[in-house]
Amino acid sequence: MDFHLRVMTAADIPAGMRLKEIAGWNQTRGDWKRFLRASPAGCFVAESEGRVVGTAATIAYEGRFAWIGMVLVDPAARGQGVGTKLLEKTIEYLDGCGIPSMKLDATPQGKPLYEKLGFVSEYEIERWHLRRAPAPNAVPEANPVELEEVLQLDRDIFGADRAVLLRSVAQDAPEFALQTRSEGRLAGYAFGRRGSRADHLGPWVAQDEISARSIFDEFLRRSCQPMVFVDGMRPNPWVIGLVRDHGFEYARPLTRMVRGRNDFPGRPELQCAVLGPEFG
Ligand SMILES: CC(C)(COP(=O)(O)OP(=O)(O)OC[C@H]1O[C@@H](n2cnc3c(N)ncnc32)[C@H](O)[C@@H]1OP(=O)(O)O)[C@@H](O)C(=O)NCCC(=O)NCCS
Repeated sequence: MDFHLRVMTAADIPAGMRLKEIAGWNQTRGDWKRFLRASPAGCFVAESEGRVVGTAATIAYEGRFAWIGMVLVDPAARGQGVGTKLLEKTIEYLDGCGIPSMKLDATPQGKPLYEKLGFVSEYEIERWHLRRAPAPNAVPEANPVELEEVLQLDRDIFGADRAVLLRSVAQDAPEFALQTRSEGRLAGYAFGRRGSRADHLGPWVAQDEISARSIFDEFLRRSCQPMVFVDGMRPNPWVIGLVRDHGFEYARPLTRMVRGRNDFPGRPELQCAVLGPEFG
């Protein structure tokens, strides 16, 4: 199969949506826009006979590291090197930007491809989901979150500033922007997205189990889709117990991988859940 790579534009979003629908993923048009806004020259499509058959997107965090996400190949075009070529292109692009480290959360299908390209495993993440009867769509009034303080703490926890991204997530779903205090101190926070298939909690961060639970309970009160996703961090001591207690079922593994230096690992033990595998 002949194909070529080119920079992705907003006109390719419907094609990207088609590929992610086939893969059964949860992203929306808004998520593609987040990548294109953050990285207008760093998102790519593979095209064959005028049709988009593959995608890969990047987002750089403060020049400390970049994330690679939305690596998708049309099932009819798989096993022919499209995924490899897209990854090589994103690596070349990020190297050209002088970014010392690249990260991603790999599906079992993607992992061998990334290993061949020099990515190594950092730790495991687990996708958990909750299926339930649709809740009445009565979202309680959002309590204002002290966003500046949350974003400052998030920089330490995540390992780099992702304020622009989190602001856009909070703008789209203000009812999921949550925080909790303990003795006056910010002890936990969360954001969430309304995906095409599920409400998706993340990032979900807490300094202790009580704060983790109170954020989680509040999110579930506010969420109303019949499906909820949480990408739980294996290094976190509380998340697996909490999701199990709330009736979530294990869905699939993801592996956080890094290529190059890992000078800014953040605080994975304080993250109950990531924002999402595509963004970190
Ligand atoms: C993971 C995914 C992107 C891989 O895409 P792909 O285009 O099939 O990947 P490639 O063709 O480059 O490599 C896959 C296999 O084909 C082989 N291959 C590469 N070039 C080839 C060629 N010219 N001819 C035949 N086979 C080839 C590769 O060696 C590899 O096999 P191996 O893993 O046994 O070594 C694709 O399976 C997919 O979209 N999966 C669903 C979404 C997903 O999980 N994405 C990853 C997110 S982290």
